[in-house]
Amino acid sequence: MNAQAKVALVTGGARGIGDAIVQGLQGAGSKVFSLDRSAPEHPRDGVAYLEADVSDPVSVAQAFRAIDAAGTGIDTVVHNAGIQRSGLCGQMSFEDWSKVLGTHLNGMFLCATHAIPRMIAQGRGGAIIGIASTAAFVGLPGRGPYTAAKAGIVGLARCLAVETAPHRIRVNAVAPGFTRTAIIEDAVANGSLREDWMLERVPLGRLAEPLEIANAVKYLASDDASYVTGQTLVVDGGWSTQGMHHSPAWLQQAAA
Ligand SMILES: NC(=O)c1ccc[n+]([C@@H]2O[C@H](COP(=O)([O-])OP(=O)(O)OC[C@H]3O[C@@H](n4cnc5c(N)ncnc54)[C@H](O)[C@@H]3O)[C@@H](O)[C@H]2O)c1
Repeated sequence: MNAQAKVALVTGGARGIGDAIVQGLQGAGSKVFSLDRSAPEHPRDGVAYLEADVSDPVSVAQAFRAIDAAGTGIDTVVHNAGIQRSGLCGQMSFEDWSKVLGTHLNGMFLCATHAIPRMIAQGRGGAIIGIASTAAFVGLPGRGPYTAAKAGIVGLARCLAVETAPHRIRVNAVAPGFTRTAIIEDAVANGSLREDWMLERVPLGRLAEPLEIANAVKYLASDDASYVTGQTLVVDGGWSTQGMHHSPAWLQQAAA
């Protein structure tokens, strides 16, 4: 099926990376539903904005019933909604832990639970994409539940890929590095992140723009990725591949 005929659901589509994914998939010709607990900051023409909480089974079920009522079917699900809570394990509340796990990991499970039977019944395959993070692969101190949830999204994508392959459903993840959105601006404002800490280890020397993450999602949702499943595409400006980030002057000159 070509992009023009696809129908996509994007969680957390009201702003930030989710809004860029909405824009990217719409630009590729998809009909797009956004599922977000908040109203969109800048609503896009033609997008159906559903207000729902991705961590709440009843709310997610209602959102999928709204898609059923539209009669479009569903081809692509991008689980992008996310939150952040900072604190050391040992000091962090169970409530904060549960909120982060509930949004990222339960959210992916709930969306997949509703999408997969519908995709199977339609018989036209499908694509499910979870937005992970480079935090899935390294320990980010003070972000225990986030790190655990993002690693969980990578693992769940692999498992679902194998389970649903017989139905031509592909399941992948995208792992962004630091991307210029409100979640990062909030962390800088509350002192838990600093821009120079982020940039120090990014070989490309800048933060990602949301549309650069959306481009990776657009690829995985498209038929160009028809043989790609169970993978995590890392989009981090080289952050996770850099070994030493300090080097002698002769090496810096040679690289300049
Ligand atoms: N910005 C980054 O540097 C970065 C890096 C790696 C991964 N990510 C991931 O990318 C995704 C998007 O991040 P962002 O920077 O655009 O964040 P953001 O805070 O700008 O947007 C998140 C969106 O998710 C929605 N949301 C949160 N909880 C929800 C819930 N329970 N139900 C429905 N909607 C909910 C919010 O209302 C918001 O619209 C997140 O999963 C985040 O962890 C971001």
